[in-house]
Amino acid sequence: MDHPTSVQESHGYLDFSQEERTNIWQAIIATRPQEISKKEAEKRFKFPEDTEALEILMLGSPMYFDSKKLLELAIHQPEFAPKLTAELAKRGAYPEILTILEHHKYRRCFNSCVLELENMLEDNKDRDNILNYFYKEMSKSQNRSMQVFSEYMLSKPEAASRNLKNYQTLLGIDDKKLQTLLHGKSLLMIGGGLAPIKDSLKAKNIDCKITNIEPLLNADTSGNSDQAIAQDFYDVDLKSLGKFEEVWSANNSLPTYAWDPEQVKIFYKKSLQAVAQKGHLRILPVYDFLDSITPAMRLNRIPVNNMSKRCLDMIKQRPDLFRLIYFSTAPEKKMLAFKKSSMQGVDIEVIGNSDDIQDFLRTL
Ligand SMILES: C[S@@+](CC[C@H](N)C(=O)[O-])C[C@H]1O[C@@H](n2cnc3c(N)ncnc32)[C@H](O)[C@@H]1O
Repeated sequence: MDHPTSVQESHGYLDFSQEERTNIWQAIIATRPQEISKKEAEKRFKFPEDTEALEILMLGSPMYFDSKKLLELAIHQPEFAPKLTAELAKRGAYPEILTILEHHKYRRCFNSCVLELENMLEDNKDRDNILNYFYKEMSKSQNRSMQVFSEYMLSKPEAASRNLKNYQTLLGIDDKKLQTLLHGKSLLMIGGGLAPIKDSLKAKNIDCKITNIEPLLNADTSGNSDQAIAQDFYDVDLKSLGKFEEVWSANNSLPTYAWDPEQVKIFYKKSLQAVAQKGHLRILPVYDFLDSITPAMRLNRIPVNNMSKRCLDMIKQRPDLFRLIYFSTAPEKKMLAFKKSSMQGVDIEVIGNSDDIQDFLRTL
């Protein structure tokens, strides 16, 4: 695909040549209702002389205007940008859309522009590729390092410190089941946060070896886990850690915050490889990821969610290797939006042997 279109024009804002005005004028007259004569239509319609009237005409009837002119308007009037993005998406004018997204990436209208783009592409079989194209182009100027993520996360530390009780509630694990699943066993937490999970298990007389791959963890991790790995999950050699009876990637860790669909695929491959036979990988949520850390990341929430569904569909096709149980969390009242939300999770029990699992994961 092409690069973003330049908004630099040799002439002024919404400056139309006489020829352009005539062409637009004729196009509008040509689409008059049958009962109105051409003469009457010519009398009624005049090409607007003042900019405000022209802007309103362009917003209401964008089909008469070329994509470059719509781009000019979308850049100058942020509140018009979403509707113009929809029109440009209908035309496949992706370089113009990219310019709009780049220009408005830190404005309130950005999310609405992305929503319009996503909706307009809904029936397009290439939707994920197109959205990923925007993600890739935009991420050229946006850092996607773990440091960016950690700064974002540390700005709301309560979201990274959910306690054991919270995990139990969301994963549907009562105290009795917790004892059975974890006592004398090993637990790998992926993005397990900062809460004193180890201490809370000890208080319940559960002796479990916890490994937590959590970039936010600092020096004092004794109450959190036995083995704290303060690294990006994608940089950790999981094979060197052995197998775990329980692997939890829960409460909005990965794949929620995967930067792109490829990372989602790697997440499934790596985490499933870490589960011992008859052990479980618990993921919550498995889709409907909405959070994004950068504007670029917002563009590929649909492709990332679709990749998670695709991986699960493939996993489901191997009942000889895996047993899947989907679950939903109880609706949680969101303080500000006054609406209730519930998350979809999955419990994947690994029933196949290690070699067969590995063969399968190569095909994912
Ligand atoms: C919303 S917090 C949830 C933390 C914890 N699960 C809890 O409930 O308190 C998301 C967590 O995912 C972790 N995370 C995101 N991407 C990660 C990655 N690539 N590798 C390891 N951890 C990651 C973050 O560091 C963060 O602690």
